[in-house]
Order: sequence, then C-alpha cells, then structure tokens
Amino acid sequence: LRVVVLAGGLSYERDVSLRSGRRVLDALRTIGVEVELRDADNALLPSLLVDPPDAVVIALHGATGEDGSLRGVLDLCDVPYVGCDARSSRLAWDKPSAKTVLREAGIPTPDWVALPHDRFSELGAVAVLERISDRLGLPLMVKPAQGGSGLGAAVVRDAASLPAAMVGCFAYDSTALVERYVPGMDVAVSVVDLGNGPQALPAVEIVPRNGVYDYAARYTAGLTTWHAPARLSATVAAKVADTALAAHNALGLRDLSRVDLIVDGDGRPHVLEVNVSPGMTETSLLPLAVQAAGLDFGKLLGSLVARAVG
Ligand code: DAL
Ligand code: MG
Repeated sequence: LRVVVLAGGLSYERDVSLRSGRRVLDALRTIGVEVELRDADNALLPSLLVDPPDAVVIALHGATGEDGSLRGVLDLCDVPYVGCDARSSRLAWDKPSAKTVLREAGIPTPDWVALPHDRFSELGAVAVLERISDRLGLPLMVKPAQGGSGLGAAVVRDAASLPAAMVGCFAYDSTALVERYVPGMDVAVSVVDLGNGPQALPAVEIVPRNGVYDYAARYTAGLTTWHAPARLSATVAAKVADTALAAHNALGLRDLSRVDLIVDGDGRPHVLEVNVSPGMTETSLLPLAVQAAGLDFGKLLGSLVARAVG
C-alpha cells in the first residue's frame, strides 16, 4: 500500500497544513505504511495520473483543500482519499451555506447575516452596524464566509470596532459572516468513522490564555489550555456529541470531521462550523481527542486509509 499525504498548497493556511502533513506522515510511518508527503502544486496532476498512489490523505487546509476542488481532481484521477466528497466539502467550507443546511435540519447554530463586500461599501459601516445590531444584538462575531484558523475573524463588542473588524475580514474573503456572539464554553468534537458509522470522540474544551482563540493561540504551544474530555456533565456531554454527529451527517460528511461548538450557560450546544480537513498539528484538537479516547493516532489514520481503499 502506498499512501500520499497532500499538504501545503497555496492557501493562507499553508504553514499549518505543512505541520499537519508532517504529523500525519510520522503517524502513518509508526504503523509501517509506505507514505510520502506531497505539495499540492501544478506537478500534482501529472504525478497522480502517471503514478497514482493507492490512497491520499488530505492534510490541506483552506481553499483548494477544503473547497472541494482538490477532491474533484482526485475523483477525476480515480484516486481514493480519506474524507468526504467534493460536494460536501464545498458545502461545509462555505459557512453561510453550511449554517443554512444545519438550521434546516433543526441543529442550533447562532443567528447570522452574510454580507458581501460590495453591499458593505454601498451602505457604509454605520448603516450596516445599525441593521445588523438591530437583528443580532452585540457583541457580534465577524469572520470570512470561507476561511479557517481564525484568520480574519474578530469579536465586535462595540459599534466603534465594527469597521476595522469588517476590513480585516474582507482581506480574506469578499463575503463576511456576521454572527450573534454566543457566550459559553468553546468545544471541538472530532467525528471519526472506523467502519461502524460515525462516532463522536470526547469533546475537547478550549481555553485560550488571552481569551481569544486566534491564529497565535491555535498554533503557539503554551497559549491555549485544553481539557479533554471537556468539563461537562454527562447529560450535556451526550447532547454535545449528538449535536456534533447530527451536524456531520446533515452536511453529508464521511470518515472524519471536527465540529466546533459553543455550549451556552444553560448547557445548550450551538454549532459554529464543521471542518472537513481538521488541523493535525502538535497543538490541534483532533489528535488530542484521539488521545483522550485512548486510541492510537497512527492506527486510526491507518483504519481510515484502509476504509478509503475499500
Ligand atoms: N482550519 C484549521 C486547520 C482547523 O480547522 O483545524
Ligand atoms: Mg474552521
């Protein structure tokens, strides 16, 4: 069996992806799989055609890796890969579309407005804030409609900080997702399918040292503390796991995902987003959940690869 781990690519999350890729590569080596790391560059397509691997593990983050385009290429080349298909990936990647599907499926997700840059320019920051805060209140969460790793995301606590948050967001995407800010516990639930259907691993509670889980807090050792499993009652933990599984299924995902949620003060989970290519770095959440579940990361990846190969 020869496996290729795809990492790098040209997204804003290139560096994170290379870190994820190396960790996946090392983990697969520990179980004796023949594996190599490949960048997703323009030499990839010919190499997939000339020398197709038995399976691909996608450790790409950001556009290309998560918007479905690369999965479409793998489908065309008839190369099996771990994870969901192109269509579901595209759906999960676009936060407004994913939230629409979640809401239609009865899965709680914070109220939101999707705001294209042109509309923001046309109305002006003051009118936009009035309209949005009438609907969603304050504080708000502003993030790129398509993006990851906290890049371009900001909490808006007062009217004065909205314009800067919007501009920061539009640096990453032409559409902003403005969400009602739900205070509570930040948790991530990794979902994996080892052949018996999707199962939720223990929720990981995220406590960033400076209160904000931004890019630095995600990828700098020591800036975030985790509790795995999260400090939740058994009843709430079960509700969180069920909600995460429901979100994974509603978006048509397979093999693995990571569902990010807020658990509010009444113990109610709210889904923020679902990641089809979760981070696998030394400070990422899925590997922590795997460890908390008492599983071996290499063996888990090996099972996912075996499932992809069929
Ligand atoms: N977008 C990053 C890699 C994550 O979700 O873990
Ligand atoms: Mg994400």
